[in-house]
Amino acid sequence: MCEPRYFEVRYAINPWMDTDTPVDRALAREQWGNLVQTYRDHGHTVETVAPVEGLPDMVFAANAALVVDGRVFGSSFRAPERRQESAAYATWFKAAGYDVHTPRSVCEGEGDLVPAGRFVLAGAGFRTQRAAHREVQEFFGRPVISLDLVDPRFYHLDTALFFLGEEDGEGDGTGAGDVAYYPAAFSPGSREVLRRLYPRALIATEEDALAFGLNSVSDGRHVFVAPQAHHLVDQLAHRGYVPVPVDLSEFHKAGGGIKCCTQEIR
Ligand code: ARG
Repeated sequence: MCEPRYFEVRYAINPWMDTDTPVDRALAREQWGNLVQTYRDHGHTVETVAPVEGLPDMVFAANAALVVDGRVFGSSFRAPERRQESAAYATWFKAAGYDVHTPRSVCEGEGDLVPAGRFVLAGAGFRTQRAAHREVQEFFGRPVISLDLVDPRFYHLDTALFFLGEEDGEGDGTGAGDVAYYPAAFSPGSREVLRRLYPRALIATEEDALAFGLNSVSDGRHVFVAPQAHHLVDQLAHRGYVPVPVDLSEFHKAGGGIKCCTQEIR
């Protein structure tokens, strides 16, 4: 995770960002600190990457890479304003002893790449290019399922879907696991793919999605989730998960939430 020391909305590269709406940086730091503490309180280790002045979106650590089995597939950002973040994160990974693969196409890390059971779900349409999906499949040797995003408000896959855990309640043996998503963020064909893969998925409402409810992190039991996503929070509890509400409202102004601020080292 990367502290929001230099966080602000200085440019607009998604529909949430409005350079005329100021960010309360003190509140942002408080909310971010609360997320770190909440992870630690639930037994998770949090490492931090030093923020770089002039990179206001660097707080969105999820975009830096996809890490599976200790192997790091780095990032290559679409927006010129974010491109220098890749090197800053790669420096951290290398210092921590990881090799970093640099993608040949635009690829925004976990923003568009979601490991889900035996698959990696991959979003395209606004940021990550389809060519990167192939590259991810080749790199990890895991089947990559390409999904098309169609609503600019949900420009990264992790704003429209998250993975809940390895086991789906039915134990249907598909190995697909359990996900939550907002169907209207996807093209009709991609929606159908999700319906086939995850017949028991939690279906979020537009309100849940707009509250960044799908930008959640699950450890298989606890789900760190935006408190404003009321319907989803109820559904999670009903399904036997433990919703842990964490409010990151200041980050919504930049189009990010809990998951965006969290790079998972698998
Ligand atoms: N302002 C950032 C951007 O538009 C937000 C990134 C949010 N990150 C995420 N994983 N969805 O690139």
